[in-house]
Amino acid sequence: MKFKKEIDTISKLISRHSGQTVLPEYDLRIDSIPSEQSDNIELYHLVLHQVLFRCYQGRYVLLPKVQETSMEEFNAYHDLRERCGFSNLQSSIEKKLITPEIGTAYELVERLSFLEFLSDVSSELDMNAENEFITFLENNERRKDYYRNFLLQSSSDLLAEASASALGVVGDYGPAQSVLFRVLIDEFGYGSFEKKHSSLFRSTLEGFHLSTNYNHYWYLFDINTFKLHNFIHHLFQNPRNFFLQLGFLIYAESSYQKSTKQNYLYLKRHHPEVDSTYFAEHAHIDIHHSSMVLDEVAIPLAEKFGRQAEIDIMAGISATQQTFKEFGNQLLNVSKVFNILADSGAVSYGLDESISASENCFTPSMMAQTIQSCNACSLQVGGIGALRDPSDFCQFPPGTLGRETRQ
Ligand SMILES: [Fe+2]
Ligand SMILES: [Fe+2]
Repeated sequence: MKFKKEIDTISKLISRHSGQTVLPEYDLRIDSIPSEQSDNIELYHLVLHQVLFRCYQGRYVLLPKVQETSMEEFNAYHDLRERCGFSNLQSSIEKKLITPEIGTAYELVERLSFLEFLSDVSSELDMNAENEFITFLENNERRKDYYRNFLLQSSSDLLAEASASALGVVGDYGPAQSVLFRVLIDEFGYGSFEKKHSSLFRSTLEGFHLSTNYNHYWYLFDINTFKLHNFIHHLFQNPRNFFLQLGFLIYAESSYQKSTKQNYLYLKRHHPEVDSTYFAEHAHIDIHHSSMVLDEVAIPLAEKFGRQAEIDIMAGISATQQTFKEFGNQLLNVSKVFNILADSGAVSYGLDESISASENCFTPSMMAQTIQSCNACSLQVGGIGALRDPSDFCQFPPGTLGRETRQ
């Protein structure tokens, strides 16, 4: 375990400074790796992703909503980040967890024709229009619990939606920059706080009685949730990745216009009391964003910068497609396993907000190693509910996170 010593040092420093009452925006905690689990790769990757997650978030201005916040808390957060050395670890963890997957995407696309690739991706999105998660929900009486988990896992990025991509807009790069700035203006609600996409998303979270605080649920995020967040932030925090960023934007805007429409219709059908403006807005505006990014930014810039720019854009699309797919599969597979266990009455549905980040976390392979010594009463799985018998957690797909509960 290459970073074990650094992780232990960070964990100790943080636990000395943050108690249960730490504001979610300034929470720097990561899970620790117990010595008996020091060879568990799944846990190791989860914790490294948590470190990266903390690295990237330090790049943004985060001011909590609570009235009594002091400048001391704000300064302490930034000082502690510095002392933990998060930024020193960033590039070495990226090399381990993020760049190899982007490398695979390059191998897949390096010989492909740019325009043919773009047209294939577009027809694939049209052909695979079915959203398997929504189909699963349609036939399930506990759909509300599974959908709550979808919102919770998505909150990792959507509560600061477009802050990552804003970093790709700053600079000086001609007419394409102004097109991306127009997209950004839409994402930020054309200067109106109520219309900002993250504000619209907050309203949907409220409809499911979820906290709207940035970072609030980090301790229930699956590894694929961290992966998706960190992949996006890795791309946008480095200008060297500009053409990969364009690939991300093309795929994200094009796939989002379809998935948001499905989510909008789903909410209207099954949860009409919940505000679905976030999804309605995207189903409409992302049609424009897709063509703006493709026709007014990516294609003209690829013509100007040539073959390497084309390859970077295609690799960005391919890596995004793969990361989105993994996130979607994880969500669906976790829901399916939970649902099978529910049939035998081995679960309780719901999210108990008293569960705390300081309880131990488990991955399925950890549980398989420690069934005998696990003395948790039950295990919370994301925002869905809890397993009455923690040993059932071994059946979940790799990368799922379970958090001990004492009730
Ligand atoms: Fe948006
Ligand atoms: Fe958009």
